[in-house]
Amino acid sequence: MGVSRSRAQEIYLWRNRSCGYYPFLDASAPVGLVPARRASAPVGAAMKIALGVTGGIAAYKAAEILRQLQDRGAEVQVVMTRAAQEFVRPLTFAALSGKNVITEMFDGTSGPNAGSSVEHIGVAQSIDALLVAPATADTLAKFANGTASDFLSTLYLATTAPVIVAPAMNVNMWQHEATQRNLDTLRRRGVRIVEPGSGYLACGMIGAGRLAEPDQIVEAVMETLGVAQDLKGESILVTAGPTLEPIDPVRFIGNRSSGKMGYAIAEAAIRRGARVTLVSGPTAINPPAVAEFVPVETTQQMRDAVVVRFPDASVVIKAAAVADYRPRQTASRKIKRAGNALTLEMEPTADILAELGAHRFEKQILIGFAAETENVIENARGKLAAKHIDAIVVNDVSKPGIGFNSDRNAVTIITAEDSLQVAESSKFDVAQRVLDTVVRLRAARLSSAQASGSSIQLEKAENK
Ligand code: PMT
Repeated sequence: MGVSRSRAQEIYLWRNRSCGYYPFLDASAPVGLVPARRASAPVGAAMKIALGVTGGIAAYKAAEILRQLQDRGAEVQVVMTRAAQEFVRPLTFAALSGKNVITEMFDGTSGPNAGSSVEHIGVAQSIDALLVAPATADTLAKFANGTASDFLSTLYLATTAPVIVAPAMNVNMWQHEATQRNLDTLRRRGVRIVEPGSGYLACGMIGAGRLAEPDQIVEAVMETLGVAQDLKGESILVTAGPTLEPIDPVRFIGNRSSGKMGYAIAEAAIRRGARVTLVSGPTAINPPAVAEFVPVETTQQMRDAVVVRFPDASVVIKAAAVADYRPRQTASRKIKRAGNALTLEMEPTADILAELGAHRFEKQILIGFAAETENVIENARGKLAAKHIDAIVVNDVSKPGIGFNSDRNAVTIITAEDSLQVAESSKFDVAQRVLDTVVRLRAARLSSAQASGSSIQLEKAENK
């Protein structure tokens, strides 16, 4: 092949598309021997939340709460009490959550401990938070008194995760000394109570007892989990994965990017309140619950997808490993094997990040990644300047155990003013540090705009 680039981790593959997902191929394996496809691994472990729904007229509102939790990137396991099932059928929540709803203590037909009677322990240990909304007086009493008489009350006792309850009931029940005493007990134990609102109640009375608004409840869960909403109002465009450049109808040139770094950024950004668009080359992992997912294959397709969405993005983070070269020609028929050597003529692809840097608006924040194997910091600084971007996240991809197709990474985040070293950690943690940089850059941008009386703040507000 007429290719003389020395990018250690970017292997040019002469592979048949039927090989499966090439990022997991071992470059040293003889061609034709294809290791089994690896299971799809979660990027930044999704927040797992158990949503307890108890029996009250507000039970239907739990569907909206479930949807909003999913929008924040959470995986939700719904648990319904018997009384709740009188108001809403489990099927509603099963359809929305994509999971079996737990309705019985000894059902045992679903979940990690299917077939046994200790499913509550499995759920209790796997969740990051237990939310009960609506929470009836009866459930609050069970929680306060440690009664383990159904799945939900048993789950409450068995979990060490934070608990949030959003009560809803008749005003007299709410004000009753017994209920208030139970609430005090729960508060003392650290349970977060999302106070009900006042107004017209389903029972015909007027007063306190109305379930708090779904967004207020979801906000309380996020706050309890320490998920800062510091990217609210930002529209973040993330690119991830490799690009593949076709040689003929069945073969391509690609690289080892798994998409994990970019997907971790997308997921962390969702959790921090951003609206996220993810443009991704082919990967073997599941994308997070982004507002828009755009699958692409070639650099040109990635370029087109990014450029058309660029004006609506307040932040762009380019974690994708984009091919710098592509075959000058793509054969329309499969190239037949012949005894002699084969030469592929390559041409440069579009430099997407440089194009964005040349056409950016003042308000936009552009962050690139740099995969380097030598003169790491120096080369990255060169790209920061050449591509007119605000920050570059450089990883030394010659180091074992980080970078391409690994769950971990170690990076230096370089801006015009400073640089921050992020020691080896999970890609999700690295993603959080990259997003901290976005927050820092935004704050600096806004304060310099305020100082100069510019309209950046207004432009940002328009983006919300
Ligand atoms: O996907 P993973 O397995 O999790 O691996 C993560 C990663 C190693 C791919 C990631 O951390 C990373 O380093 N991504 C950038 C890889 C890369 O293409 O680096 P580069 O130095 O060649 O490019 C610099 C920047 O320009 C990158 O933001 C790239 O997206 C962009 N670029 C490059 C070429 C091109 N034609 N257009 C571009 O926009």
